[in-house]
Amino acid sequence: MAEKVIINVKKLKKYFPVRGGLMSSFGSGKEQKFVHAVDNISFTIKQGEVFSLVGESGCGKTTTGRLLTRLEDPTSGHIYFHKRDIANLEGKDLKSFRRNVQMIFQDPYESLNPRLTVFSTVAEPLLVHHVGDTIDEREDLVAKALEAAELKPAMEYLHRYPHELSGGQRQRVAIARALALRPEFIVADEPVSMLDVSIRAGILNLLLDLKAKYGIPYLFITHDLSVARYMSDRIGVMYLGTIVETGESEKVIKNPHHPYTRALLSSVPVPDPDYKRERKKIKGDLPSPINVPKGCRFYPRCIFAKKGICDRKDPPVVEVEPGHFVKCHFAADIPAMDGKADEEMEEKVELGEQLLQETMNSAGNDEEEIEFV
Ligand SMILES: Nc1ncnc2c1ncn2[C@@H]1O[C@H](COP(=O)(O)OP(=O)(O)OP(=O)(O)O)[C@@H](O)[C@H]1O
Ligand code: SF4
Ligand SMILES: [Mg+2]
Repeated sequence: MAEKVIINVKKLKKYFPVRGGLMSSFGSGKEQKFVHAVDNISFTIKQGEVFSLVGESGCGKTTTGRLLTRLEDPTSGHIYFHKRDIANLEGKDLKSFRRNVQMIFQDPYESLNPRLTVFSTVAEPLLVHHVGDTIDEREDLVAKALEAAELKPAMEYLHRYPHELSGGQRQRVAIARALALRPEFIVADEPVSMLDVSIRAGILNLLLDLKAKYGIPYLFITHDLSVARYMSDRIGVMYLGTIVETGESEKVIKNPHHPYTRALLSSVPVPDPDYKRERKKIKGDLPSPINVPKGCRFYPRCIFAKKGICDRKDPPVVEVEPGHFVKCHFAADIPAMDGKADEEMEEKVELGEQLLQETMNSAGNDEEEIEFV
């Protein structure tokens, strides 16, 4: 794997002010409250690498993706793109940066304008960035992007509308639109979670093929650890706005150290009706990102928490093996403390692999056919 760092995120934060309408704190003397959506995260993404962010709903995955594509302005911190800090770009500089990064969204039904044909949809970013002088030139670029997204022959798709396409085809159009400007970096936010299981593998394999062909690095966002493992070189586990564990995918999945990662892994679905081992539950619900717990954020839910330490001090980031980092006061000790669960987890990882393999084997029935109307 090439080592050139394309994205280098440092101490990135995004706080959203809590709006309370008439109850707003403005002028009321009350302290303004904030949603700590992304709270001091750092990571890198290298050329040709897929870095996945995984974690529960509301932990800050999408906000991170939107910050990296500068659809959101950071509260503080740095986002180096090819060593240039793009965190505070504005105007022309921001527009020119946006040409190099693209985002693929979760829901192809929502992300495509129902009134635009496939041609207009894919050509839109070309027009915005003044790429292609004539309509013929743009048609050629659109056709190339559609074929790269495996919508072949492109001519058959150019004049169709979203409602004339299947879910998988729609997501391929969204991918073609992202590819049209030949981006240097792509954020894919849960790109298959709204699609039928039978067509997911085709889209995931397409994204991997594009990575192999063009060396495009991705930030891949998913709540599904099996998908993260299949797709990524490295994984970052997010919890309540922070990254609690990061490392090569196999290391994080096979040798998780953070109690939250271990609990997430033990809840990976198992395709065996006779498999009735008790799942390790995480205590309680995700705390509010407005009033984040003091000390370790996982403290109120952690079965290993030690009072007087975990509830007081923010845990350090510890390198438990080369390139594998864990934010926990007891990072090195957790696997031993949790020894009994190791066997169970190994078995679950194996069964999870079978499930993944079955999903991937169904890649053949990629697209459900939709009739022209
Ligand atoms: N524009 C906004 N204004 C206020 N709060 C926001 C805004 N966008 C996100 N949030 C809050 O920030 C937190 C992180 O949200 P985000 O969408 O990044 O989570 P996520 O990990 O992508 O969740 P999901 O898996 O459900 O997509 C949540 O508490 C969310 O309610
Ligand atoms: S620091 Fe303490 S509370 Fe936080 S994950 Fe580690 S053991 Fe649990
Ligand atoms: Mg999201």
